[in-house]
Amino acid sequence: MTWLVTGGAGYIGAHVVKAMLDDGQEVVALDDLSTGDRSRVAAAPLVEGSVLDRALLDRTMSEHGVTGVVHIAAKKQVGESVADPLLYYRENLSGLVTLLEACRAAEVGSFVFSSSAATYGLPDVDLVDEETPGVPLSPYGETKLIGEWLTRDCETAFGLRTMSMRYFNVAGAAAAELGDPGVFNLIPLVFQALAAGERPKVFGGDYPTPDGTCIRDYVHVADVAAAHLTAARALASGAASATYNIGRGEGSSVLEVLQVIGSVTGLDTAPLVVDRRPGDPARVVAAVDRIHAGLGFTAARGLPEMVESAWAGWQLRHG
Ligand code: WQD
Repeated sequence: MTWLVTGGAGYIGAHVVKAMLDDGQEVVALDDLSTGDRSRVAAAPLVEGSVLDRALLDRTMSEHGVTGVVHIAAKKQVGESVADPLLYYRENLSGLVTLLEACRAAEVGSFVFSSSAATYGLPDVDLVDEETPGVPLSPYGETKLIGEWLTRDCETAFGLRTMSMRYFNVAGAAAAELGDPGVFNLIPLVFQALAAGERPKVFGGDYPTPDGTCIRDYVHVADVAAAHLTAARALASGAASATYNIGRGEGSSVLEVLQVIGSVTGLDTAPLVVDRRPGDPARVVAAVDRIHAGLGFTAARGLPEMVESAWAGWQLRHG
């Protein structure tokens, strides 16, 4: 069975490619290199191009005998999606439609879809389970929820079995050279502030949480990749479609993350508490019972390992 991993040269995609290769899976990566880096995919064939290119998809699936797809290629910046929704609808939805058409033509039967906790919007529950209503707040989150609906309809129409993986807050790296080059999320933004000799900003200190700062479920990218491998193997063995949260089932506040960053880097992470960021929920923590029961999966790595590996990647990229 050969798997096509779209976005395979990106931060998360390269970790998925690595996990699947380490497991002995046959993999071909596809990436338009808009944010991906060819050097991340040294051990698998890399096809340069977009999921919007139907002819390229058909050729790639035929030449490599693709029978399964792990679809990670997408735009994923919440703020950017608000400013440019049509970019997100084109890349994340038209791209998905084109890929699904190619899957139907090539009789691909197994599809692992990169979804997001952003599909939930502002969940007002202690632990967010997969039945929590999806009320996304951004075009990014909307494209992920609609994407889940598209794959479900394709199963009804032509039997494509899909596992939708809702990522919570992904961080860390399996190796320094695979670290996240993007500076859009909390941990790299703190590194950037410290590197500039500035105090890290905390967006709001008056939330209804124990220390007043937002709580999120941080999950190591190597665990996210392991969950994708587990889902792919399950689909290859005939497992039914499912939707899974990918998280640790535990929350960490912004101040707790800053404390770990201070311990790991030895730097002073005393923050500058500023106004709340619009649209931020106080707490978003995954219920992870379903993926444990359905796939036997539990995230293994904790926050210190995420921060240590993210810091190693930052230092490698920034000296
Ligand atoms: C985390 C917390 C901020 C920066 C992400 C993305 C996306 C999605 C879900 C996959 C928030 C606070 C941040 C800073 C801060 N995952 N913060 N100072 O907003 O939870 O959303 O997770 O699709 O990756 O949508 O992640 O890293 O932006 O923020 O205080 O300089 O840190 O307010 O509470 P978020 P984030």
